[in-house]
Amino acid sequence: MNIILLGPPGAGKGTQAARLVDGRGMVQLSTGDMLRAAVKAGTPVGLRAKAVMDAGALVSDEIVSALIGDRLDELAPAVGVIFDGYPRTEAQALSLDDLLKARGRTLDHVIELEVDEDALVDRITGRFSCAKCGEGYHDRYKLPMNEGVCDVCGSSDFRRRPDDNEATVRTRMAEYRDKTAPILPLYEARGIVSRVDGMADMDSVSAAVADILDQPPA
Ligand code: AP5
Repeated sequence: MNIILLGPPGAGKGTQAARLVDGRGMVQLSTGDMLRAAVKAGTPVGLRAKAVMDAGALVSDEIVSALIGDRLDELAPAVGVIFDGYPRTEAQALSLDDLLKARGRTLDHVIELEVDEDALVDRITGRFSCAKCGEGYHDRYKLPMNEGVCDVCGSSDFRRRPDDNEATVRTRMAEYRDKTAPILPLYEARGIVSRVDGMADMDSVSAAVADILDQPPA
């Protein structure tokens, strides 16, 4: 099964993708994570992407589609994929069609997480993660059980993303409205779009996503 999780910054795409990885053995392909890894490693792609990401704008279609193609090539055909943060433009959506077709894959579901943008600013500016294992936390919704210590790996080294400030988040949201939301009709025409209330608590969102994935094929 191949699915796209779609929604503005902070909608919960990464959170739900991680749960699907744990619960269903699917693989999460997050272009945001791939780009951040490239920035951290100082690769040519990372050097080109850093300023764009820090400003909240979109990295070029060619770069992200190439990253996705390379990752798909590493996966066995039977492994299900969750696309998190990709595609984000019409050009990327068309590239994804080609990438999937060339590998004998089909797109089964596009799940849009519907959210209130103002609430998202609070979600994003409050989040942080463990620098060692990547576990995600939030200042109000999900603090480590022991203050200052990661629940998963015990590290006390936490990080915040440089693009998680309010001004950049507003730019990222505008990019979503202008460039990403307009690709939904492409998938609606194929009858594969489902919508989930992304403002519900995380477990309710997960249950709604599971209901969609467990539906028998039409
Ligand atoms: P990317 O990393 O994809 O960021 P984003 O889309 O802005 O999404 P986020 O990771 O911020 O949010 P999310 O929806 O995953 O929410 P999360 O689960 O973390 O992209 C970053 C940048 O990279 C882009 O701006 C661009 O420059 C570049 N880029 C990436 N892909 C690209 C592409 N395809 N093309 C071009 N450029 C690209 O949740 C957020 C917080 O809320 C967390 O703290 C979480 O714990 C909490 N939370 C989640 N769900 C709930 C809930 N139901 N209730 C309460 N809290 C919740």
